[in-house]
Amino acid sequence: MQIEVNNVTYTYNKKRFDEFEALKGISLKIDKGEFVALVGKTGSGKSTLIQTFNGLILPTSGYVKVDDFIVTGDKKLKRQLLKKESKEVQILNKKKAYLLRKKVGMVFQFPEYQLFADTILKDVMFGPLNFKVEENLAKEKSINALKSVGIDESYFERNPFELSGGEKRRVAIAGILASEPDILILDEPTAGLDPNGKKEIMNLIKDIHKEGKTIILVTHDMDVVMDYVDKIFVLNDGKLLEETTPNILFNKENILDYSLEIPTFYKFKNLLKKYGFCKDLSKINEFNELIDIICEDKND
Ligand SMILES: Nc1ncnc2c1ncn2[C@@H]1O[C@H](COP(=O)(O)OP(=O)(O)OP(=O)(O)O)[C@@H](O)[C@H]1O
Ligand SMILES: [Mg+2]
Repeated sequence: MQIEVNNVTYTYNKKRFDEFEALKGISLKIDKGEFVALVGKTGSGKSTLIQTFNGLILPTSGYVKVDDFIVTGDKKLKRQLLKKESKEVQILNKKKAYLLRKKVGMVFQFPEYQLFADTILKDVMFGPLNFKVEENLAKEKSINALKSVGIDESYFERNPFELSGGEKRRVAIAGILASEPDILILDEPTAGLDPNGKKEIMNLIKDIHKEGKTIILVTHDMDVVMDYVDKIFVLNDGKLLEETTPNILFNKENILDYSLEIPTFYKFKNLLKKYGFCKDLSKINEFNELIDIICEDKND
């Protein structure tokens, strides 16, 4: 098990008049090498939850364990865990949580928030330098990362803020890859991109996954979920509603109750049913199979 989320709650503005419990006792597990998505209505707690995975915020109660690191803001629980866990396990406080960020890289919902240096290369080098990698090696890792996301050398001295949305995302991803994390979390990586840009970013993420990294995607784009993801965690109102797969989820009779976008494929399948197509489509989960069955029906 690579990530274990154990009964995690998180309250923003604790003990203030405007305190708000965004996570209400979430437990889930993610294995090494999985490609998963966190989905759910706006405000359901997705971005809050992923920030507990790399220690940007500490759970108010419960804990997150990533390999041999644990994060929790619950002092009593910390003492219990110290007694219970083996010696290799480190319980990180806010100051030490940066150790987790080397292992768990996160690309934010708005890449603009992540970019800050005046050249692309300097921007990407910040990560490895921050983790005390020696300058020449940091440069080498950064150049490799930029090349791997398809940013040409002629761009390296350009200002990252002058880039297009898709290019900014690539640079933000390179900035994370340069620190060689095992786990990559991407919050809405395709938001605002055109269909080609979306495909390019998703294929890039797929390649990174093939190299053995664990991928956690937060997205409202259910076509992306259907095409790329193996497992889905559905959040609702700060709770885990269910752990499922794309085909199981989108074949549900009550899928409209989830307030999720329906993938194009399932919209089409539902239209066929609505307009009286009689063959059983319940086991058909790909366009190719659907086209075959429509052609068969025409020839019958
Ligand atoms: N800094 C904050 N202070 C107070 N409340 C917050 C803060 N950030 C988020 N919240 C609240 O916590 C809840 C969960 O927010 P979160 O950003 O995790 O949702 P989300 O599922 O990522 O939504 P979206 O799909 O819109 O990105 C929301 O009700 C939000 O208003
Ligand atoms: Mg969010």
